Amino acid sequence: MKKVKCIIGALAVLVLMLGAAECFAQQNVKAPDALTVIHSRKSVRNFTGQAVSREALDTVLRAGMAAPTAVGRQPWAFVVVTDRKTLDTLRDGLPYAKMLGKAGAAIIVCAMPEKAHDKKIEFALIDSTCAGENILLAAEAIGLGAVWTAAYPYKDRMDVVRKTLRIPDDVIPLNVIPVGHPTGIDKPKNKYNPENIRWEKW
Ligand SMILES: Cc1cc2nc3c(=O)[nH]c(=O)nc-3n(C[C@H](O)[C@H](O)[C@H](O)COP(=O)(O)O)c2cc1C
Repeated sequence: MKKVKCIIGALAVLVLMLGAAECFAQQNVKAPDALTVIHSRKSVRNFTGQAVSREALDTVLRAGMAAPTAVGRQPWAFVVVTDRKTLDTLRDGLPYAKMLGKAGAAIIVCAMPEKAHDKKIEFALIDSTCAGENILLAAEAIGLGAVWTAAYPYKDRMDVVRKTLRIPDDVIPLNVIPVGHPTGIDKPKNKYNPENIRWEKW
């Protein structure tokens, strides 16, 4: 009986130690809180040229797919590009995405009206835009930089993206998001303006 009590006592101490260790580990995680991430996010156009790990890209893509969608339809697909030649082809074809030259990767958020609520283009675009913002925020949260560069609604830019990445005609390439390690030059802007708020009524 004494032996059993001893074992139970030792197990209890072990459980307590494991709990404390986990608590400690959690306190040491340096993940910034949501509001800090939101207010630190900025368009990053200056990258070091360093590669972006598959793990980091996976984290960012998971955040994208956590976005809200009309009736939960998830009418999107994400093309991830890490190949230097393809990144350079996109850079050369897109007038306002020259930062692709130093980005480690790019994520192209694609809207799929066929999968959207009521098959509406508008829902596909709205839902995919939510995913795009999540991607930008997640990149910031893990110390990377990103910037939304427009494909939609410009036909010529969508054509470049479609052709380069073999995206079918019924899928809309919404944007090209270069992702990379920031040089630190780009800073967040304070855009808070109380004049944009109407309390209770317009
Ligand atoms: C729909 C949309 C299209 C954009 N297109 C481009 C673009 O083609 N190239 C670019 O460098 N930035 C582009 N941006 C980024 C904006 O210029 C940027 O978000 C804005 O200047 C505010 O700066 P911030 O993101 O640092 O807060 C785009 C942003 C949005 C939402």
